[in-house]
Amino acid sequence: MSSASAPLSAKHPATDVLETVTLRRATAEDAVALALTGAATFLEAFTWMLPGADILAHTQKQHTVEVYAHYLAEPSSRVTVAVTGSAVGFPEEPGSVVGYVLLCTPELPSFEVQPTDVELKRIYLFSRFRFAPVLDRSGNPIPDLRPAQALMDAAVADARALGARRLLLGTHAGNSRAIAFYRRNGFREAGTRVFQVGSQQCCDLIFARSLVSF
Ligand SMILES: CC(C)(COP(=O)(O)OP(=O)(O)OC[C@H]1O[C@@H](n2cnc3c(N)ncnc32)[C@H](O)[C@@H]1OP(=O)(O)O)[C@@H](O)C(=O)NCCC(=O)NCCS
Repeated sequence: MSSASAPLSAKHPATDVLETVTLRRATAEDAVALALTGAATFLEAFTWMLPGADILAHTQKQHTVEVYAHYLAEPSSRVTVAVTGSAVGFPEEPGSVVGYVLLCTPELPSFEVQPTDVELKRIYLFSRFRFAPVLDRSGNPIPDLRPAQALMDAAVADARALGARRLLLGTHAGNSRAIAFYRRNGFREAGTRVFQVGSQQCCDLIFARSLVSF
């Protein structure tokens, strides 16, 4: 049968619908999806940078269901997920997680952390969805808003709601795209840290953004 005559799936009637994303707060039920998407987006982002065995060992350790269940249960953490396939047409489905942002109490041992700091520990989005329209709760596209920016906006709002005065994050010095994104969002370089990925010692840059004046 040619693809032109293939019947449209009743469940997934239009592929462009599936290319949109919506944001929602993650719940304990999302731990498995977050572990899988966390591992997959991490591998997509960094396989070019590190030896295969090191990145696999790191992924197996850092992107487990237990790790995400821990953050989801922690009152000082917030996880927002970008999901596709949930809002329009299939309101009963929770959607598939294609990106997420994770806030937590700072885990930056070598950095002078203030009691009112929150760490943006992870922000990851599958590259396929970087330009996907972001839908509001009514299913309407939000003009001029891209998924990564929507995740960052949610993180900033959540950090403020947690009472944070400053948002911190660490990123690999070679992660130029993420660094440009952070700079555009008001983050400035504030220090460095040594970060272990398997047998490799990586030097991360630490960025900070005031939540008071910006
Ligand atoms: C980090 C991330 C969420 C940002 O989302 P995004 O949709 O890529 O962000 P944007 O496209 O809005 O911004 C990226 C910026 O980098 C620029 N850029 C793109 N490719 C680049 C490259 N190879 N080198 C330098 N800058 C680059 C873009 O022009 C843009 O800059 P601008 O705002 O000045 O135009 C997303 O890239 C991602 O998930 N990356 C993989 C995971 C990751 O690295 N997470 C962070 C770990 S600390």
